[in-house]
Amino acid sequence: PLAVSLNRLQLKNPILVASGTFGYAKEMAAFLDFSRLGGIIPKTITTEPRIGNPPPRTVETSAGLLNSIGLDNDGIDLFLEKQLNYLSSLETALIVNIAGRSIDEMAVMASRLDQYSDQITALELNISCPNVSGGVDYGTRPEMTEKMLKQVTESCQLPIIAKLTPNVTSVVEIAQAASAGGADAVSLINTVQGTAIDWRRRKPILGGIFGGLSGPAIKPVALRVVCQVARAVDVPIIGVGGIANIDDVMEFIVAGASAVQIGTANFYNPGLAAQLVSELEGILVSEKCSHISELVGSLEYPE
Ligand code: DOR
Repeated sequence: PLAVSLNRLQLKNPILVASGTFGYAKEMAAFLDFSRLGGIIPKTITTEPRIGNPPPRTVETSAGLLNSIGLDNDGIDLFLEKQLNYLSSLETALIVNIAGRSIDEMAVMASRLDQYSDQITALELNISCPNVSGGVDYGTRPEMTEKMLKQVTESCQLPIIAKLTPNVTSVVEIAQAASAGGADAVSLINTVQGTAIDWRRRKPILGGIFGGLSGPAIKPVALRVVCQVARAVDVPIIGVGGIANIDDVMEFIVAGASAVQIGTANFYNPGLAAQLVSELEGILVSEKCSHISELVGSLEYPE
């Protein structure tokens, strides 16, 4: 009853953990049964290792968490060598999140990961990182988004998700372009650009100066984007942004998300995502639904 299908991507349930908020899963093993989850999306990987931005790289503000990590990661070689076997043993979908500085680089990574299609369920393209130069270029211009998706889908057989930024005038246009390029689904949204200031020192708090805001503060932004894209574009949506309880999950689902990602909340309650799967089973009973798809996009708008 909870199984979802996003074009070529099949998941046993709609609850995923968002990239960058769950490490490479090992560190979370004590807190939850991974096999309960619809899937795991590890921290973004890039072709070369990256050291990320200077510290401080996170700050908790009264409005939410700001991060300026800058895609710190060990690179694809070490990912394949040290993380893949563990991640693919977890009896849940493994969605590998990747970022590249060019379309070619992204396509080369995708075709390399395609050789591990027995271990990897899908790829999520991070074309929306606010914290590296050029990190959002492919997610802010529709023609580049479409070109990126076309080339990646041609280089690889795995289902492809495009993770989009809210920091644009029209996410609808970008989602349209991703869909035209062959994306199986879009993840909405990455973090909202922001900053934090220590006025007494006359200094920005983050080493990277600007960062991405996440947590409950951005849920209304994410819901707005999900509503807009669901009404305008025929593409499966994975909702993400400030989900911290089952009501948040349901808001995204009725707005039009077929699946959701739990992000910042994992830092505060690492067992939450697995618990939400059980609560979602309860919702089907209380709403007298035989399948979760009956609730997706069921939001009623005024005439
Ligand atoms: O907020 C974010 N921070 N979004 C990303 O896509 C990447 C991450 C980082 O590494 O800076």
